[in-house]
Amino acid sequence: MTAVGDTTGTTLDRRAVISLLRRLRSPEGQSNPQPVWHQLRALGDVVPAPWGGYLVTGYDVCSEVLRGRNWLVPDLAWQARQPNAERWQAPATQAVSRGLFRLNAPVHTSQRRALGNLFGRTTLDALAPLVAAQTKRVVDELAERICRDGEADFVPIVSDRLPVLTVGEWLDVPARHHAHILDFTHRQVHLQELLPTKSELAVSAQATADMREFFTGLIRERRADPGSNVISGWIRYWDEQFPGDPAAADETVYDLTMFITTASLETTATLLANVVWLLGRSEEQWQWLWRNPEHIDDAIEEALRYDPPIHVNTRIAADDTVLAGTPIAKDEMVHVMYGAAAHDPRRNENPECFDILRNGAHMTFGGGAHYCVGAALARLEARTLLTELLGRFRALRPVSAPTYAPRMVFRRVTSLKVTT
Ligand code: HEM
Repeated sequence: MTAVGDTTGTTLDRRAVISLLRRLRSPEGQSNPQPVWHQLRALGDVVPAPWGGYLVTGYDVCSEVLRGRNWLVPDLAWQARQPNAERWQAPATQAVSRGLFRLNAPVHTSQRRALGNLFGRTTLDALAPLVAAQTKRVVDELAERICRDGEADFVPIVSDRLPVLTVGEWLDVPARHHAHILDFTHRQVHLQELLPTKSELAVSAQATADMREFFTGLIRERRADPGSNVISGWIRYWDEQFPGDPAAADETVYDLTMFITTASLETTATLLANVVWLLGRSEEQWQWLWRNPEHIDDAIEEALRYDPPIHVNTRIAADDTVLAGTPIAKDEMVHVMYGAAAHDPRRNENPECFDILRNGAHMTFGGGAHYCVGAALARLEARTLLTELLGRFRALRPVSAPTYAPRMVFRRVTSLKVTT
């Protein structure tokens, strides 16, 4: 049905795409996805996916999908229309699909309006000293470990912990629960992959049940003993929207708390690890930034462009449409490839070069109605951490390349050993 370049849609191309996607998921593809993105882009801006739907690889076309009115997120109504019940009607998939990123207007609009500017200037100013204190704490531990052992793993000591300490502080969740939250977040994410296996879906189902137990317990506690914290504020707001129906209010507060927590942790952790890997692997670059700290924000933006923590996001066609010359039927899926887009040389010249002063284009936080709610918080954490690290270490060198979880959608750095 499609015509991208002069070869797509053929058996040969289907095989080529399958093989590229396999490579993307492999350890080699995880540590260096750029050549795969390059080859996918060479097949066209819109490439048929082997399982149906399309991969969107070019910057401008990805941007058109994210911002266009004729593209929706695959919500529960769309999932109910799909023949693959095991994938789309699995209880865990359904539960997670009540989160913001799977809602369309008007429910999405009312939930976003209710949240307002979640991390506006006042909230960020209030959070900044807390983030600074937590950052100092984890970096102290990193320094001690390097001093003692000669090297340390940045991931468990710093990049996995700072986001959960920050969001935990913001939501007022005691530190004793943080390890549990991280654990179910890592397990739950499988169902957001493009082609989860049966056993991965089973792991996600258990994680979703654990999440529900934890967050409903937390909301019950906040309802019994309200305070001036974020969750109590949400309960008050949604009680007004659902007068006389506290169960409905609690359900909405659950969806928000669960989704915001899980959306914020692995993503920010990956950004923090990426920043250290991409800067630290060149001592010259680290020292340049040390001498020019006014470019810390530029370095973070380039890390966001160079290696987006989320590689793929999905939309569906609201109606029959044409995308970059490719006819797409109503309800068909398209997968926006953030990384491939940010490495599109038509948009960012010489894209494989990590260039702090590039001022490049990226859509790492998405775009349009679903633009990331926590972008400002993620940037605050990255800025605070990088400032602290540069103040502390004249060099922070990776001992070896990072290792990654074998994923295509949510990127996760599992280990990054560093030394000074
Ligand atoms: C580097 C860190 C982060 C990255 C790369 C990231 C990326 C994204 C992306 C790509 C989207 C989807 C946008 C779209 O569909 O167009 C998104 C949505 C979202 N993010 Fe983030 N995010 C990060 C951190 C955070 C943090 C810290 C929070 C909250 C504290 C957060 C909360 C959300 C929420 C609630 C949504 C759903 C918005 C909606 O659908 O309306 N994210 N994020």
